Amino acid sequence: MDFFGLYLTAITKFNESCLSLHDIQNKSHNNTKTRNTTILNSQNIMGFLTNEKLLIVGAGGMIGSNMAQTAMMLGLTPNICLYDIYEPGVHGVAEEMYHCAFPNANITWTVDPEVAFKDAKYIISSGGAPRKEGMTREDLLKGNCKIAAEFGDLIEKYCPDVKHVVVIFNPADVTALTALIHSGLKPNQLTSLAALDSTRLQEALAAECGVQQCKVTNAYTYGGHGEAMAVFASEALVDGKPLSEFNISEERWAEIKHSTIQGGSNIIKLRGRSSFQSPAYQAVKMIEAAMGGEKFTWPAGCYVNCDKCGFKNVMMAMPTVIDAHGVHYCEPKGTAEEMAALQASYEHLCKMREEIISLGIIPAVADWKSENPNL
Ligand SMILES: NC(=O)c1ccc[n+]([C@@H]2O[C@H](COP(=O)([O-])OP(=O)(O)OC[C@H]3O[C@@H](n4cnc5c(N)ncnc54)[C@H](O)[C@@H]3O)[C@@H](O)[C@H]2O)c1
Repeated sequence: MDFFGLYLTAITKFNESCLSLHDIQNKSHNNTKTRNTTILNSQNIMGFLTNEKLLIVGAGGMIGSNMAQTAMMLGLTPNICLYDIYEPGVHGVAEEMYHCAFPNANITWTVDPEVAFKDAKYIISSGGAPRKEGMTREDLLKGNCKIAAEFGDLIEKYCPDVKHVVVIFNPADVTALTALIHSGLKPNQLTSLAALDSTRLQEALAAECGVQQCKVTNAYTYGGHGEAMAVFASEALVDGKPLSEFNISEERWAEIKHSTIQGGSNIIKLRGRSSFQSPAYQAVKMIEAAMGGEKFTWPAGCYVNCDKCGFKNVMMAMPTVIDAHGVHYCEPKGTAEEMAALQASYEHLCKMREEIISLGIIPAVADWKSENPNL
């Protein structure tokens, strides 16, 4: 064979080997619509908090994809399953994660709920519609609560032994309540993401007082994660000094409260879409705490049924700690004005709860025990 013949043979062989590699990839990605669904249990996987399966629901979306990356970067578990109803989206996110080449990662993706939920020990869900400019979180109530009911049913059917679930999709207090009722889980096993209202308040106060953000402490929002949230700053400290020493005028305080409450809408205005980096980070930190990592101390939405506080059968943000035993809450302490705002926020949540009862998405409160004996 002359030189040209040798060259042609070599090129043909190279192309054949490329094609066969591509075929293998097609088989494992496109045809089966899942990849690597076996959980890696090796004792040798170092540097992770746990080897248990973390399921990310809504993984094809903005928050979901950021959560996948954050969870890997924080070393939560090598076994992460990405689930979404939108196949190209979740497939694309999985490909990006493979391209990160995280050491020891066993990232799987699927559009099959059984494959996704089976054996999941931790779940974070952002799988619902986001709001667009001009919408409130409450505008998403009906559609997203139906999704939450299905989400709870899938937990009950495929992974009743799940340890902790974080619900993100809005209106998060009501979707989380719906998921809790349908899942059959204990109240301390399911939380909703509420921290961003408090981190926004912290940032607004830091900007006002001219200090680094982390120097503002004891400033939180409680109640609903919506326009009716209650802002608690009477105990706030700025660089160790009471906030009252900073003589913030009533007008400025009203503006700070407004910018806290509208913090999410402001991101939509600035970026043309709902926030995704901050919810992804905070939600992954919540699940990290439930896995036994650093305790999570920003307020979380939790199930509250407390005669002493007067708040019954709702999910709402409270002073909370999440740790390996789940979520624990205590009663907020504040001025008469702050407590009145919390009462108003609670009443707003009760109204939304009644709305989804009337839509038949959850049963009447008196019948909750038959759906979830843990309530
Ligand atoms: N709690 C908070 O602080 C907070 C903050 C920001 C956004 N959010 C909410 O989080 C949610 C997700 O936001 P996003 O920006 O990631 O939206 P997105 O549209 O980018 O992603 C949502 C993903 O969920 C998927 N999905 C829809 N229904 C599903 C179902 N039944 N099962 C599985 N997956 C499903 C979609 O296909 C999509 O890929 C929205 O409801 C948004 O309002 C909450």
